[in-house]
Amino acid sequence: MHNLVMKAGGWFLAFGLAVIAAFSAVDAAFAAQMWILAVAALIGLCCLLRGADYEGLDRPAPAKPTGYYDDVIRWGVIATVFWGLAGMLVGVYIALQLAFPQLNLGLEYTTFGRLRPLHTSAVIFAFCGNALIASSFWVVQRTCRARLAFPALARFVFWGYQLFIVLAATGYMLGITEGREYAEPEWYADIWLTIVWVSYLAVYLGTIVRRKEPHIYVANWFYLSFIVTIAMLHLVNNLTIPVSLFGSKSYSAFAGVQDALTQWWYGHNAVGFFLTAGFLGMMYYFIPKQAERPVYSYRLSIVHFWSLIFLYIWAGPHHLHYTALPDWAQTLGEVFSIMLWMPSWGGMINGLMTLNGAWDKVRTDPIIRMMVLALAFYGMSTFEGPMMSIKTVNSLSHYTDWTIGHVHSGALGWNGMITFATIYFLTPRLWGRTRMYSLRMINWHFWTATLGIVLYVSSMWVAGIMQGLMWREYGHDGYLVYAFVDVVAAMKPYYLIRATGGLLYLLGSVFMAWNVFQTIRGNLREEAPLTGTPYNPALDHPLQPHAA
Ligand code: HEM
Ligand code: HEM
Repeated sequence: MHNLVMKAGGWFLAFGLAVIAAFSAVDAAFAAQMWILAVAALIGLCCLLRGADYEGLDRPAPAKPTGYYDDVIRWGVIATVFWGLAGMLVGVYIALQLAFPQLNLGLEYTTFGRLRPLHTSAVIFAFCGNALIASSFWVVQRTCRARLAFPALARFVFWGYQLFIVLAATGYMLGITEGREYAEPEWYADIWLTIVWVSYLAVYLGTIVRRKEPHIYVANWFYLSFIVTIAMLHLVNNLTIPVSLFGSKSYSAFAGVQDALTQWWYGHNAVGFFLTAGFLGMMYYFIPKQAERPVYSYRLSIVHFWSLIFLYIWAGPHHLHYTALPDWAQTLGEVFSIMLWMPSWGGMINGLMTLNGAWDKVRTDPIIRMMVLALAFYGMSTFEGPMMSIKTVNSLSHYTDWTIGHVHSGALGWNGMITFATIYFLTPRLWGRTRMYSLRMINWHFWTATLGIVLYVSSMWVAGIMQGLMWREYGHDGYLVYAFVDVVAAMKPYYLIRATGGLLYLLGSVFMAWNVFQTIRGNLREEAPLTGTPYNPALDHPLQPHAA
């Protein structure tokens, strides 16, 4: 009873504070965000009061359940699919805006400038973030043979994270931004995320501490480095001073080139630890499980873990070539980026070689196929990245769509594909089904997504290099040959190809959403099994050996 009253009081207090902040707001956008918080607190209060077991209040507490705690992972899988669809839909929309500017609709809320961070945050933090949180909770329990520590805190992590996403997304559309790429949410949303993230660390570490398995499996090292480093990056890059306690605007504690360096130290390591280390954790658990093979080299996994995290942290300055940043710092960033190639490929090779002896499954198991493609794109983008960090190459690629091509070869190929494979692995197991609703639909997802990536990335590579070359083309008279607008016009066909690629990729995700939905409902599609190409002797015309 006492507990229920305390919890209800907590929600009520949160509601009251949000309403006071809404009425005291110095700008309308901040007021809108506080109303969102008030509504969230009210929903929390209603759920608590509706779900409470009033009759059982005086009964002694039931014995603690044993086994794994998977509720929060189930919600995480659904959230990943949902935010993936939302983020990709916005991606397709902004891709079309670049080809057809009328789609800005003449409204401030729907301009490219506001929808772009909506896209990047939705896909990185909402889609990838939920996939990371859900999969990490699965992996840490199974590899430690321990139930998730602090289940109530884990539920808070999930819902608190969704609230952060909603605050960030609505904030961008209302025009609230810190103007720091991938760290756009303002100070109050940042404080909220800090609380959620520290809770995440507590749940994760708590589970490791409770482990019954003496060894800490390598996937946990990767996940842990992701959680700890993101906490550190988030805290430093968001050191800001709010203009008012009741307003959305704040200013960075850093200025000038120090500010730029802090931002790209953050930005690059968001790539290194959010989009790489966390996903390598996923790779190290789900690929051996799906392939039913042990990790190729455990020693390599340890060597490339330590070298990866040591090198990544220094590479940020490659985002600031030819700027006011001292030359030695730019060169340092370049050198560390080139060295990064090796540990990155260490991970790729370890993943691919894990399939030794199971390569035949690439023909029959579309989930394995997705994993192999993910590793191939991981390898490609981590070769391309070091190359782009060489100053002379960067002088051509920077500001162009080549960077966008690089980003999406990593994001769609590596992060997207390994996430889809993980969802297909987890869904039947989480809902107690024998398999996914349709294996053939996974195959369709694989091919539409692959075609989508090829169209997206190749068009951006060609467009980016063309753009860079056109910008720097001088005539005999010493004047630039092309006006900026000529370059913009030349980009249009490529933007259309990119939008088509994005649409195909999105279509693949719609297949996945349907497949997951049907699996959760407990349906199994009747279909012929996926096998290798059937042997047809009539079509087989082997070369006849020459008569001696
Ligand atoms: C349907 C698929 C997608 C489409 C059509 C799409 C489209 C776009 C477009 C048009 C931009 C803006 C490019 C510009 O400013 O010129 C963009 C930026 C970006 N997208 Fe996507 N995207 C998709 C999926 C994803 C996914 C799944 C991720 C991450 C997991 C992602 C991460 C990013 C990032 C990080 C940027 C910012 C790049 C930069 O500033 O250099 N996108 N996307
Ligand atoms: C060895 C690994 C990698 C290195 C050295 C590297 C290097 C680079 C370089 C040099 C740039 C262009 C910077 C500029 O001109 O502004 C860049 C941009 C970017 N890369 Fe990578 N990359 C690597 C791997 C990856 C991977 C695997 C992903 C995604 C999963 C990724 C995501 C991004 C993003 C999102 C940007 C755009 C940042 C922006 O908004 O400007 N990178 N990377």
